[in-house]
Amino acid sequence: MVRIENYDLSGRNTFRMKVKCALFVEYETVGELESIDWDSLPRPVISVGAGSNLLFAGDFPGTVLHSAIRYIKYVDMGLDSVPVMVGAGVKFDDFVAKACADNLWGVENLSLIPGDVGAAAVQNIGAYGVEAADVIDGVTCYDTVARRMVKFKAGECGYGYRESLFKKTAGRYVITGVLFRLNRSPKPRLEYRGLSGLVPKCPQDVRNEVIRIRRSKLPDPEELGSAGSFFKNPMVPPEVYSRIAGEFPNVPHYATSGGDVKVPAAWLIENSGMKGRSVGGAAVYAKQPLVIVNASGDATPSDVLALEKMIVEAVRSRFGVELHPEVEHIGL
Ligand code: EPU
Repeated sequence: MVRIENYDLSGRNTFRMKVKCALFVEYETVGELESIDWDSLPRPVISVGAGSNLLFAGDFPGTVLHSAIRYIKYVDMGLDSVPVMVGAGVKFDDFVAKACADNLWGVENLSLIPGDVGAAAVQNIGAYGVEAADVIDGVTCYDTVARRMVKFKAGECGYGYRESLFKKTAGRYVITGVLFRLNRSPKPRLEYRGLSGLVPKCPQDVRNEVIRIRRSKLPDPEELGSAGSFFKNPMVPPEVYSRIAGEFPNVPHYATSGGDVKVPAAWLIENSGMKGRSVGGAAVYAKQPLVIVNASGDATPSDVLALEKMIVEAVRSRFGVELHPEVEHIGL
């Protein structure tokens, strides 16, 4: 187990904010996690994976837990629907790469999403028409309140668009492993318009195309700090959509089952004149305005928060639509 006080988190958040936490604890096994003396930890206690979907608002007075539980285990290769147990500390894209290399369908559309497997199950990551919840069968966690291991079936995880029980109960459950179900027989999901022309022979074909699209739109985390999509795509009531469409007949939109209409936040931000705008070192990414980047490399949390506020206000006053961050704010 690794235990470091006054720990520098700049290498542990993809936004590359230079912040510290009072205590950093990394565990490699479930046994190590269970042996932690919870009552002695500086509060609050949070779990951080690759730190690719969060913004620290400043130095963090509590404990940052990090899982280094890393394994990928095919439970039964004899089945057509193959159960795969994956440790929470595995890089999600390493799992996707392995699944594709082994010719298993299910996660190829989620290629190149930054972050670890545990966080993917908290956040219900999604891209190109697929969400993690579509392939998750169950989640194993340590319950920090009852102080014991618990298992949830997929139906008990409260999954919705970037939502889950684990997000709602903020920190109670520390995910140690996720059970996925992948398929041997081809099950390509090509509804997303960028993929609709593809005739894939294997999951790797889809993975290659998704990687190509993502690289053309999203900043390379190695080059430019960001936390991916900063805002969720808002669902607006039909009358709000009609008002926008009256002015912009070509506004992109997607019907949702509840009757509300999903309008891309990227479109709203661009059409509020915010594309390319910046505050201090933080900027709206020109190729995909849904992403805020650490353009200068030394942007501060207050730069990002000020830019966020500016975007939210611009979209509210131009379209009467309220944007909500997808990126989790820590310490606000
Ligand atoms: N758009 C613009 N201007 C731009 C770019 C995009 O107006 O400069 C509009 C276009 O109308 C485009 C629409 O935004 O059709 C949607 O863009 P895109 O298909 O790239 O997807 P997104 O809605 O912006 C979501 C996810 C991404 C995921 C992509 C692909 C959320 C918050 N974001 O973005 O997830 O990769 O779909 O499926 O749901 C992430 O969560 O970090 C993330 C990157």
